Amino acid sequence: MRHLLEISQLNKQLVEVLISRATAFITSGSKSWPQIQGAIASLFYENSTRTKISFELAARQLGMSLINVNLERSSEAKGEEIVDTLKTLEAMGIQGFIFRHVKEKLVHQLSEAIPNASFINAGDGMHAHPTQTLTDLFTIKQAKAHFDKLRVVILGDILHSRVANSLIQGLLMMGTKDICLSAPDYFMPKDAGNVNIEKSLDKALREADVVVCLRVQKERIKSSLETVFEDYVGDYRLDEKKLSNAKPDVIVMHPGPMNRGVEITSSVADGDKSVILKQVKNGVFVRMAVLDAIFGKK
Ligand code: CP
Repeated sequence: MRHLLEISQLNKQLVEVLISRATAFITSGSKSWPQIQGAIASLFYENSTRTKISFELAARQLGMSLINVNLERSSEAKGEEIVDTLKTLEAMGIQGFIFRHVKEKLVHQLSEAIPNASFINAGDGMHAHPTQTLTDLFTIKQAKAHFDKLRVVILGDILHSRVANSLIQGLLMMGTKDICLSAPDYFMPKDAGNVNIEKSLDKALREADVVVCLRVQKERIKSSLETVFEDYVGDYRLDEKKLSNAKPDVIVMHPGPMNRGVEITSSVADGDKSVILKQVKNGVFVRMAVLDAIFGKK
C-alpha cells in the first residue's frame, strides 16, 4: 500500500488483512512488533486528540520517528505554501505525511504533487476519515464477529460527518446490508447511497446490533441552523430509554470527541453497552497496521 486516502481504495480482503494485523499486534505483545526504519511527519490543520496521539503512539511502538509539525511555528506562518513545506520536509528525509485539513481532497492533490512520499488522510473536511473507519470496522468485528447480518444504525449529524461517509462505504464493502441512517432533515445528506433512512430514532433502533452516534459538529453548522436544532436533544440524543428499542447485546459507538448531553447521555456513553473507549484503544493498533502496511518490509 502506498497511500491511505480513502476507504474506497481498499477492498474487503485488504480490510480483513489490516484488521488481522491489528489483532495480532494486540495478542502478540510488544516483543514481537516489527521495528520499522524511517521518519514520518504529522500535520494537523484541524484539532485532534484521538487520531493525532494514536498515530504518535503507533509510530513509536513500531520504532519509527514521527515529527509533529507545529503549524503555528512553521514557516507557513511566513507565507510558505503547504506544498513547499511538505517538499522541504521530504528533502530532509521524511517519507510520509499524516495529514488532516478542512479542505476536502487537498491530501489527494498533495499526494500527486509529491509523488515519492506516502500520505495518510487523517480527515479531510466532511469527506473522508479512513483510519477511523478501519478502527470502527475492527471494533464491530471484535464484538460481533461478522458484518453481513448486522443492523447498523448511524445517528446524528450525518450531513457534516466524514466519519459517516467513510463508515457507510466501509460497511457496504464488508457486506452489511442493513445500514439505517437516523437524523432530522437538517442533518441528513441528500444522497446517502445504498442505505435505509428512518427519521424516527425509536423505529430506527428496533433490532439494532450496532449504534454509531455522531457528534453534532457545531463548527461546520451555519449559524442559521442554531435555532433549528433546539428539538434535536429531545428527539435524537441517545439515552437509555431510546436504546432499549435495540437488541439486548447492542453495542454503542462514537468516534469522539463526544458532546455529553447533546448527542449522547453520560449513562449511555459510560454504560455497559458502550465500546467507545475500545474504539480509542483499537485506533492505536489499527494505525500500527496501516503504518506497517505502508512503511514496513514488503
Ligand atoms: N475521531 C476523531 O477523529 O477524533 P479526533 O478529532 O480527536 O482525532
